[in-house]
Amino acid sequence: MARKVLQLDQVAPGMVLARPVLAPSGRTLLQAGLALTDLHLHKLRQLEVPMVTVLADDPPDSQVVRWLASLSNRVPYVIDQQLRGQAMGFIDGVLRQARLRGDVDVGASRQVVDKLLEELLAKETAVSTLVDYNQADTYLSAHSVSVSVIALHLGLKKGSSRIELRELGLAGLLHDIGKARVPADLLSKPGPLTDEEWVLMRRHPELGSQMLGCRPGVGEQLTAALVQHHERYDGLGYPHGLAGDQIHPMAELIALADVFDALSSERFYRAKCEPYEVAETMIALSGEAFRPSLLRFFLANVPAYPPGTVVRFNTGEVAMVKLARPEMPTRPLCEMVFDADGVRLDRPRLVDLAEQLAIFPAQVLGAEPIGPIAGHRG
Ligand SMILES: [Fe+2]
Repeated sequence: MARKVLQLDQVAPGMVLARPVLAPSGRTLLQAGLALTDLHLHKLRQLEVPMVTVLADDPPDSQVVRWLASLSNRVPYVIDQQLRGQAMGFIDGVLRQARLRGDVDVGASRQVVDKLLEELLAKETAVSTLVDYNQADTYLSAHSVSVSVIALHLGLKKGSSRIELRELGLAGLLHDIGKARVPADLLSKPGPLTDEEWVLMRRHPELGSQMLGCRPGVGEQLTAALVQHHERYDGLGYPHGLAGDQIHPMAELIALADVFDALSSERFYRAKCEPYEVAETMIALSGEAFRPSLLRFFLANVPAYPPGTVVRFNTGEVAMVKLARPEMPTRPLCEMVFDADGVRLDRPRLVDLAEQLAIFPAQVLGAEPIGPIAGHRG
């Protein structure tokens, strides 16, 4: 397909990159094949990228691509991007400090949790997503912030007290802090871990609780949440094989948030799952990894497809979610906008996936990532 090189001010949203955009360091900022959005163009201007190479001809899905690009920020992430970035930077510093000195600044971590909580309280009634489809970073810092945000969201839905919420958010932010004491090459290993490597990796809950346990102001429930976040309802988790009511309720919530975010995000060793796969995987773990009643509460309060999400059906049509169904998380009510050939319908058509059982939302269509890819596991 023909290409053309354009100055940045000549580039319109919806144009598709024919070559990747690189930073001066050689790092890939945006991948070839990406349909540019206003947000991408804004970031490229900030980074003073002078020109980009785009496809000269329309790709097959050009109408869909342009429509998507025109729907800027259609289902915003629940936390403001700037605050999310600040929290990630902070926890990255905490992890580095923990790696170098075995020390964790609990007081400063509490302040970050307070900011996240304020933001959630301010946006409690707004439609938003707990999975940021515009982010593909799989840094441990991103996961830590996400787990904290999901845990806080669940705590709010449960009606937890302010004191409980602060502890819950802190447990989410610091749940994997023990990984600071696990060899860094294991955290970013692309392939499967060996048995010996798994032994090292599985020490992180205890290492984390030990690291925090000696700090002033750290209570029993926080260390319990850290050490027990890989325990399972059926007793097959680690490190102690606790089961059912032996597991601290806070650790159960962190475990749900941890698995949900891990499945929803890219990893070094696998691609992220689509929301229906995340929901189906978690439902399959009911009574095994998770207490069934708690999982039902989770699925009712963390919609797989919030209204405004744009999806491509397995049949090829493109639709926007209109109504999420807590009792059937993978079967929302949708409004079809494009047919399977990428041609816009004269009038959008309602499709109820609760009735159309042969159709499912195969792919969420979102803006593609900007920034480098890193990862974590466990
Ligand atoms: Fe973990």
